[in-house]
Amino acid sequence: MTEAVLLVGGQGTRLRPLTINTPKPMLPVAGVPFTVHQITRARDTGVTRIVLGTSYKADVFKEFIDASDLGIEVVIATEDEPLGTGGAIRHVLPYLESGADEPVLVFNGDILSGLDIAGLVRTHQETNSDVSLYLTTVEDPRAFGLVPTDAERRVTQFLEKPQTPEEIVTDQINAGCYVFKRSVIDSIPTGRPVSVERETFPGLLESGAVVSGIVDRGYWLDLGTPLAFVQGSCDLVLGTAPSPAVAKTGQSLVLDGATIAGDASLTGGTTIGANASVASGASIDGAVVFDNAQVGANSRITNSIIGEGAVIGADCVIDGAVIGDGAVVGAGNELLAGVRVWPGANLGETSVRFSSDRS
Ligand code: GTP
Repeated sequence: MTEAVLLVGGQGTRLRPLTINTPKPMLPVAGVPFTVHQITRARDTGVTRIVLGTSYKADVFKEFIDASDLGIEVVIATEDEPLGTGGAIRHVLPYLESGADEPVLVFNGDILSGLDIAGLVRTHQETNSDVSLYLTTVEDPRAFGLVPTDAERRVTQFLEKPQTPEEIVTDQINAGCYVFKRSVIDSIPTGRPVSVERETFPGLLESGAVVSGIVDRGYWLDLGTPLAFVQGSCDLVLGTAPSPAVAKTGQSLVLDGATIAGDASLTGGTTIGANASVASGASIDGAVVFDNAQVGANSRITNSIIGEGAVIGADCVIDGAVIGDGAVVGAGNELLAGVRVWPGANLGETSVRFSSDRS
């Protein structure tokens, strides 16, 4: 048996305002809460029991899990105060059933990956590691913590975000999935916030523990920012990213009760939520439209997230934007890169019409 811990208690500040009402792992991605993709994938690769480490908006998880059957035992642990990534792992200890020497998987709740989970656990055991980290490689590692390893896959250092070219000693980064020997979880301090990346891992290296890094160059994406969130959702719909929770892949996914005009165009892995509507002449390319939202005639939406029940008027151009739940964007608005409209906001109509006079 393999147990896993899913860390889902973060505030998801980079995805505001979507995370004001819904915690990041419960946002719909390719038709289901993101956490369902992670749970079902873990289930299908041999995990038999999952503990959800919750904090922010814990009741949203509880309600959903109580009402769902995901074919695996899911247990919810809730922190009174947010304890950080390491503190959250320590907090779930009483909920774990694994023996002291057994492996416990830990996943960040916003990672979409094609990782060979069983292989990671196997290598962890073969190398008799205390902790093993799943590492991925990136072209530009400047925004990440670097994790160099030696020929035996032992981690040699944990480096904070590199500032100069000399500091970029590897392109390997922490991919947000670990295997802990359970007894190592016992040693994390209790009762205060702990960062697993900044405190626990460097501390283990210093104490001489065996910390391994296993590089996997398959699909990996951190869905923490709006653009990455949209990309992850589209990759799941297109079939580029793997998930047992996506039954059918294609250019778009239209959920039950949605109304799509015959001449509207949905491409690039776009999802249209339940009971949403897309009017005549609208084109939506690589976007996520949540349940009950409305897209007006001839509007063009790309690389954007349209929140639940939001209303987009006719002739709008929306690219790289996040529209909060229930917001109203009047006809003719142009909202470009990085724009975020807060839930319930009302942007009136504009007299200039953009979409009809552009190609
Ligand atoms: P940002 O605020 O946008 O950085 O997102 P985040 O809150 O998700 O933070 P981050 O991406 O750094 O967190 C990594 C993972 O740990 C995510 O899956 C979070 O849900 C989770 N996490 C972060 N802090 C806590 C915490 O205090 N408690 C628990 N249970 N989980 C946490």
